[in-house]
Amino acid sequence: MADLTLSGKNPTSVKADALVVGTCSTSDGVAVVADQLPADLVRQVETLAPRLGITGAVDEVRTIPAGHDVKADVVVLTGLGERRPDGTFATETLRRSAGAAIRSLAGTESVAVALPAVDEDELAAVVEGALLGAYAFTRYRDSEAAAKKEPVAAIEVVTSFSRTARAKAAVARAEVLAAAVHGARDLVNTPPNDLYPAAFADAAKAAVKELGARGVKVTVLDDKQLAAGGYGGLVGVGQGSARGPRLVKLAYAPAKATTKVAIVGKGITFDTGGISLKPPAGMPAMKSDMAGAAAVLHTVLAAARLGLPVAVTGYLCLAENMPGGNAQRPADVVTIRGGKTVEVTNTDAEGRLVMADGLVAAVEDGHDVVLDIATLTGAQMVALGTRTSGVMGNDGVRDEVKGAADTAGEDFWPMPLPAELKAGLRSTVADMVNAASDRWGGMLFAGHFLAEFVGDTPWAHLDIAGPAYNEKSPYGYTPAGGTGVGVRTLLGFLEGRAQG
Ligand code: BES
Ligand code: MN
Ligand code: ZN
Repeated sequence: MADLTLSGKNPTSVKADALVVGTCSTSDGVAVVADQLPADLVRQVETLAPRLGITGAVDEVRTIPAGHDVKADVVVLTGLGERRPDGTFATETLRRSAGAAIRSLAGTESVAVALPAVDEDELAAVVEGALLGAYAFTRYRDSEAAAKKEPVAAIEVVTSFSRTARAKAAVARAEVLAAAVHGARDLVNTPPNDLYPAAFADAAKAAVKELGARGVKVTVLDDKQLAAGGYGGLVGVGQGSARGPRLVKLAYAPAKATTKVAIVGKGITFDTGGISLKPPAGMPAMKSDMAGAAAVLHTVLAAARLGLPVAVTGYLCLAENMPGGNAQRPADVVTIRGGKTVEVTNTDAEGRLVMADGLVAAVEDGHDVVLDIATLTGAQMVALGTRTSGVMGNDGVRDEVKGAADTAGEDFWPMPLPAELKAGLRSTVADMVNAASDRWGGMLFAGHFLAEFVGDTPWAHLDIAGPAYNEKSPYGYTPAGGTGVGVRTLLGFLEGRAQG
């Protein structure tokens, strides 16, 4: 990860390859948002903005020569959009414009960032955005090609709060947060021939080991233990693959904890659809079908790193959904841990089967609240698009997640669980079907299915199908490929609980 320091210097005197400052759009054009820049440089940018193609819009990044009076080689102008009526910018705007600038500077060694931050919360957003934008997944490229894409190595954030304890704490937290998001992105980006259930479990063990004596305990159930334990969802989904399923439990239980949270993640390391095979076009993206489990793993690790006074247990529901000779058939009936039976009417609705086992395991262990996070339905994207995740569940927990997401700067939207959709669960042979006979409200139906396995435990379900994997161009601090979505919301939720 990039090395990040705070500095109280005048931005013009910071030695760096590039100096990042903000631009914003105003009623009569473009304004440069940096008090200490040379007046003639500011005037030039503002008067020539139309010809330079600068509008100040969010996600716009333009590079200009720095001139004599700025120590950095170039000045990078990153758009902040319009000021809000009170003259400030939203924290997510700051996060995003810092990220866009740092991302577009890949290949540059050292960058100074001088974006407006009126307090430590805004400074934290700038720092987070910069670190989140300094990401590349180059493990599978030859070293020369990888070098060209190397993220910015050193970031110096210029701020008048460089010496406050709150600012230092914000940087420390942002470093943990960004490392967690990067870790989740790496797992999503890792090709499915290398990341299969057992490999994911090994990665979780290795990550916990690296954490050292910070009290995360890992347990792994392999395919035989899952069968013996009655985890029929994981077994059924996993049996079509030569590489068996796993259930990984990660427990962080500090002595000072006053509340106990479970987070269950969908970890389908590849989703072909099984015998209900998917069409080829969308299939490569299904290496991202473990993004929920990746977010859970790195949230638990981050909670431990930060020493949050909350007990949190992560459950990673790992399987590969393949159409092998032993694959489950559409019409099979499986028994989920705890005894409920499911008629598998569609083997491509596999996520809810493995999540059902994970939710039951979480409820058995006894928690004050259970969250689950999954790339569960294509219907999520039909409803909300590719950048907004859905959250369902008990009203209170659902709204608590939404609040955490808003603070963290992740787009989540609360969705209902309309009672009439429950009728779709009816099966003629088992307690329920896994896929309804029509596709209407598919995200919500899946939510109802999961609700069958949580009993009375307060619960919310996060469907991140679209936002987990960016198949389009990068934007803001969001790269192409794995995005690490969910980590910031989950961590924010835990921090909220920590404060009581
Ligand atoms: N992993 C998919 C959902 C998905 C689709 C995630 C696109 C990301 C992008 C899930 O396992 C699935 O296939 N769901 C089916 C359910 C249906 C068969 C009821 C779907 O949404 O089509
Ligand atoms: Mn599927
Ligand atoms: Zn899936």
